[in-house]
Amino acid sequence: MKVFDSGMPAEAYWNSLFDIPLITGWLNLNGISEPIVEIGCGYGTFTIPIAGKTSGKVYAFDIEPAMVECTRRNAEMAGLSNVKVLVRDVIEGGSGLESGTAGLVLLFNILHFNDRRVLLQEAYRILKPKGIVAVIHWRKDIDTPRGPIVESRPDKEMILDSLKGLDLRFGGNERILEPYHWGIQLTKLE
Ligand SMILES: C[S@@+](CC[C@H](N)C(=O)[O-])C[C@H]1O[C@@H](n2cnc3c(N)ncnc32)[C@H](O)[C@@H]1O
Repeated sequence: MKVFDSGMPAEAYWNSLFDIPLITGWLNLNGISEPIVEIGCGYGTFTIPIAGKTSGKVYAFDIEPAMVECTRRNAEMAGLSNVKVLVRDVIEGGSGLESGTAGLVLLFNILHFNDRRVLLQEAYRILKPKGIVAVIHWRKDIDTPRGPIVESRPDKEMILDSLKGLDLRFGGNERILEPYHWGIQLTKLE
C-alpha cells in the first residue's frame, strides 16, 4: 500500500524544502552503528548525504521504481558504493532485513497515515538494541509550501501513542528542523 499523499514534486524543489546539513547533523552519525536504513527514500535526499558520511552499508527502500532508480543514480553520481536501493512495499511486505541488525532507521515524511504503527514496528524489528529510529515530518503549526494535508500530519504525541507495546524509548531528543519540519529520535531498549 502506497502511503496516500506521498507523491513527490520535482527533485530540486523537494530538496530545497529542507536544511539537509541541519538534519544530517541532528542524526549525530558519529555515534551510530551500521547499517543505516531509510524506508520510503524518495530521491535519496537524505540517503545520499548520509551514505557519504559513513563507510557502512545504507539500505534504501521505496515502493516507486522511479524513486529507486533516481536514488540509485544519485548514489552513482556521488561515487557511493555503500548504498543498496530496492523497490519494496514496506507496509505490505516489510523490509526483508534481518531482525536486530540496523543501527539507525529513518522514517522521514512517511508516517502520515493511520496505520503508522506498521512501519514503526518494522523499524523496531530490524533495529539492534540501542539502535535509533529517527522520525521527521512536516510541521502543522505553521504554513508550509508542501506536505500532506495538515489533518493527516502526525505530531510527537501521535507517534508516541503508536508505540504502545514496542520497547522504543523517547529520551527527549526532539527538535524543530527549520524551516518546515520537526523530528524525534527513539531508542530501542536493550
Ligand atoms: C514524501 S516521500 C519522502 C521521501 C524521503 N523520505 C524524504 O524525506 O525525502 C515518501 C516516499 O515514500 C514512498 N512510499 C510510500 N508508500 C510506501 C511503501 N508502502 N513502501 C515503501 N515506500 C513507500 C513514496 O513512494 C515516496 O517516495
